Amino acid sequence: MAAKLTTDTPGQIGLLRTANRFVLAPMSRASAYKDGTPTAAMARYYAEFAKGGFGLLIAEGAFTDDVFAQSYSNQPGLVTDAHQAGWAQVVTAVKAEGGRIILQLIHAGAVSQHVDTPHAPSAIRPKGSMLVGYGHKQGAYGIPEVLSLDDIDNVVGGFVSAAKRAERAGFDGVEIHCANGYLLDQFLTPESNTRTDKYGGDIANRLRLTCDILSEVKARATTGFLVGVRLSQAKATEPDYFWHNGLQDAGQIFDSVAAAGADFIHLASEAKGYAYHSATKSGENLTSFAKRLTGLPVIANGGLQDVSLANEILGADQADFVAVGKTALLNPDLPKRLRAGLPLRAFSYDMFKYGVTIDAQEKWTQEQTVNV
Ligand SMILES: Cc1cc2nc3c(=O)[nH]c(=O)nc-3n(C[C@H](O)[C@H](O)[C@H](O)COP(=O)(O)O)c2cc1C
Repeated sequence: MAAKLTTDTPGQIGLLRTANRFVLAPMSRASAYKDGTPTAAMARYYAEFAKGGFGLLIAEGAFTDDVFAQSYSNQPGLVTDAHQAGWAQVVTAVKAEGGRIILQLIHAGAVSQHVDTPHAPSAIRPKGSMLVGYGHKQGAYGIPEVLSLDDIDNVVGGFVSAAKRAERAGFDGVEIHCANGYLLDQFLTPESNTRTDKYGGDIANRLRLTCDILSEVKARATTGFLVGVRLSQAKATEPDYFWHNGLQDAGQIFDSVAAAGADFIHLASEAKGYAYHSATKSGENLTSFAKRLTGLPVIANGGLQDVSLANEILGADQADFVAVGKTALLNPDLPKRLRAGLPLRAFSYDMFKYGVTIDAQEKWTQEQTVNV
């Protein structure tokens, strides 16, 4: 019988080997220069997670074009030579610590808090309100303009060009963001996509844009460069959203992204954790379903700093990797700490009281140290 996987066993996605199964979840820190160029502070920030023993880092969502894609002010992009050079600096710092790093590519669509006129699949106002701490706009979302077929071609072009730049910057791969209520998820979700052209209607049409992007990016990638996808049921502003038809929808989604060439599937469970949101509404586990159906490596997420739960998931072959978000911010050395039997510093939203940026975190950390 094969040995049970644990977080501390080596992993592999495509040709990429990782020292362990801990992945840093992508987290937007809005800490780039105003024009979207990654900074030296970002390079130091990402290197800490590699030094701390994370087998793989997924860097925060970078915007893919300079038209409608940008979500937040000071979000990093991957559109210009300067962006590429800034990211190359990040990759070099991470690789100097022996790390592996993938970049997430994201388009905001209707939930942009940055562009003047957000564009989306349909003219439907997103639910909820804008995220505090990101972007110059706050309050309720506006009604977006509808993307034309030419605009959609440009969206695909943006992802393709950003992925090529990511390869040139030295990344080990890209993760296409079709999760959490951003553009590609807006296409997938019937409530935000009422189009009657080939990008609307049944689930195959609603997933067409994501699959086109995956296959176009994959077709141009050099062998070994990973092209994965992040999916989720919940949305940043709708934490209780579930795919309507449970395993039937999930099966079609997982099969389609695999057929389009995805090298891995990453299932995000942002607000309510793995057990709640990596399952259908009636409780069927989705990461193990994705694994069985596609044979692809699957990354699980949502409260998985709980190492006994993480080991249970890996040991039961429900996923191949676990991505840790919030708790990693306070424990960039989380894998090393766990190996040494040291306790983790508990995450609290108080750490965002000065904002979500790297500078804001430093200010908060200094305050904690002074108050000890
Ligand atoms: C500050 C912050 C920024 C985030 N930015 C992103 C992002 O850029 N892309 C993304 O897919 N998810 C993003 N997320 C969601 C996380 O990747 C992750 O799914 C979520 O925090 C749940 O994992 P956790 O329970 O380990 O924190 C963000 C979360 C936080 C807290």
